[in-house]
Amino acid sequence: MPDLKVNTAYMKTKTSTILIAFLLLLIISQPVHSQLPRETEAQKMQRMKWWTDARFGMFIHWGLYASPARHEWVKNHERLTNDQYQKYFDVFNPDLFNPKDWAKMAREAGMKYVVITAKHHEGFCLWDSKYTDYKAPNTPFGRDILKEYVEAFRAEGLKVGFYYSLIDWHHPDYTIDSNHPQRQNSDTAYARLNKGRDMSKYREYMKNEVRELLTNYGEISIIWFDFSFPGKNGKGHDDWDSENLLKLARSLQPGIIVDDRLDLRDVEGGWDFTTPEQYKVTKWPEYNGKKVPWETCQTFSGSWGYYRDETSWKSPSQLLELLIESVSKGGNLLLNVGPTARGTFDPRAQERLKAMGDWMKFNSRSVYNCTEAPAEFTAPSNTLLTYNPVTRRLYIHLLAYPMGNLTLTNMADKVKYIQLLNDASEVQFSKGRGEAANDLNLSLPVLKPPVEIPVLEVFLK
Ligand code: GLC
Repeated sequence: MPDLKVNTAYMKTKTSTILIAFLLLLIISQPVHSQLPRETEAQKMQRMKWWTDARFGMFIHWGLYASPARHEWVKNHERLTNDQYQKYFDVFNPDLFNPKDWAKMAREAGMKYVVITAKHHEGFCLWDSKYTDYKAPNTPFGRDILKEYVEAFRAEGLKVGFYYSLIDWHHPDYTIDSNHPQRQNSDTAYARLNKGRDMSKYREYMKNEVRELLTNYGEISIIWFDFSFPGKNGKGHDDWDSENLLKLARSLQPGIIVDDRLDLRDVEGGWDFTTPEQYKVTKWPEYNGKKVPWETCQTFSGSWGYYRDETSWKSPSQLLELLIESVSKGGNLLLNVGPTARGTFDPRAQERLKAMGDWMKFNSRSVYNCTEAPAEFTAPSNTLLTYNPVTRRLYIHLLAYPMGNLTLTNMADKVKYIQLLNDASEVQFSKGRGEAANDLNLSLPVLKPPVEIPVLEVFLK
């Protein structure tokens, strides 16, 4: 009998272990983030169509860091405390701020959408948030910047977006981490400093602010959350409660387009586009073997916020090449301006926007609604190809202007007509001979057409 007792007890434990294991398995096999709206690939493409057609947008980094004018990470770089940083709040008064000027410059440059830092890592809010005192209306400036911004850019026909920093170096409940101005060297030091800080309150704060941003300013087309750095003394999706933050955003603005920095890479619906920052991709980025929507964000000169002494400004032709090359690989360019603490664009930024606009005025047809050219077309050396799949026109961007002629290999059977895009003047061509019978030899004007990067528009058969 005693044996039997032991046996029953053993059986009982075994059954419950199996039951627990089964339940665990059931939980794991459930789609964890099923609460995010589902859509098919085709629906997603349709939702993002205006954005992939637009190709070119303006990023605006503006905050208190415009005053120190030595990088938007100045608080971090110089390990400044809230008290030390306070002087920039106290003097913030951009008296020349006129977003109508900004919007006009963006439109004239050929940009179709805009994203502004509603809050950057420093924690300063450009709008009249109910949830903080650390906001533009409480500075000497005293205005809700976002209200004026959305109105001005919409009036110029641009789609409007917000950047919202997940990182916050001002909020009292945001725990000190490895990216914080007050970062530490030891676990005990972190523990001491973070005592009393409550990330769940910060998560609540973010949701409240995102709700404000996506409720009080009309249609918001893009939200840029920035950024996650999971790992020891870092922060990732659990720290932000990314799924629920995103769910909130999507529920308030169903069409909204979202970047990929919430640390939800592997979650269905967790991001819409990928964001190569400050570098040129070598080819159209893929995820799980599939090409994905992408946008490279780039600065004129290195930093995002206004940096007075920076001299590494890219030239207009470098910037145009950046735009064209992005389109040639199926992507977008989000080009950044860091307005000054007076509220204006640096003259160097204005010059470059103007130069891009001069080019776009005559050549935007090779950018809007365009994408990577089908693989059957080979780009001649020193050129970039883009392609409009609807009109079936191919665009050849001549980065180095050739001497008189240019050969298009293996294209004679595909081409109907060729013209220069800037003035719609015919480019004559002849077929090659013998082995080169399917090549086309183009005769180009000796003088480079009066645009930074000339474009050939090829009408395909
Ligand atoms: C980085 C930087 C930031 C900038 C952003 C733009 O994440 O932290 O300063 O806003 O990139 O992509």
